[in-house]
Amino acid sequence: ISLLILTKISLCSLAVFVSTNLYFPKKDSQSKHAPICYQTSIKTKHALSCVTVRPKVAFSAGIGPPQRILGPFNAETNLIYSKVLTNIGGAYNSHTGVFTAPVRGIYYIRFTGSEYGNTSNNIGVNLYKNEQILMHLGENGSDGLAKHISSGVTLELEAGDVVYTRLPEHYVLWGGPGFRTSFSGFLIFPM
Ligand SMILES: *[C@@H]1O[C@H](CO)[C@@H](O)[C@H](O)[C@H]1NC(C)=O
Ligand SMILES: *[C@@H]1O[C@H](CO)[C@@H](O)[C@H](O)[C@H]1NC(C)=O
Repeated sequence: ISLLILTKISLCSLAVFVSTNLYFPKKDSQSKHAPICYQTSIKTKHALSCVTVRPKVAFSAGIGPPQRILGPFNAETNLIYSKVLTNIGGAYNSHTGVFTAPVRGIYYIRFTGSEYGNTSNNIGVNLYKNEQILMHLGENGSDGLAKHISSGVTLELEAGDVVYTRLPEHYVLWGGPGFRTSFSGFLIFPM
């Protein structure tokens, strides 16, 4: 029986390796999110099925409704997107605006900002990974009555790394319906 099980496990590993070698199970892996290969209970002639279990992480959240102007403030200020559209895995905190990577992996993170009807203030977003500013994107107030910014980055994150956005000092953003000022991200694959 044990020989049979061994054969099945190695077949199973091989099947994972062939289908997606990125998730080849490592026997010495300590991660609770390590890929799991197991036998299903399907009783067919070849009863072996492999399933790669990986964490599901995806979020998207916006500022408003209700409609409101954020800023201008005298200091750079954390942006808190309290209207959660999606938060699979619960890694985005809608009270702090911070996304915390639950596992080491490659993530895609993006933001969109807007402001309407006023040419007095610059608009923009600073994107941070931990203490490090990764990107500033903005528009000068005089650029027009309807201003939009949007960008994204692919990031290699360790478990526990945090990603968040901040409103630059003296800048404004508009929060309201339609997800025009929003923060989103998802895990592409674990590492
Ligand atoms: C435009 O922004 C300035 C500076 O924040 C503010 O004083 C003014 O009331 C705003 N105008 C409108 C129409 O909202
Ligand atoms: C916005 O544009 C005006 C006019 O060109 C300029 O005087 C001002 O310095 C600009 N503001 C910033 C923050 O770049």
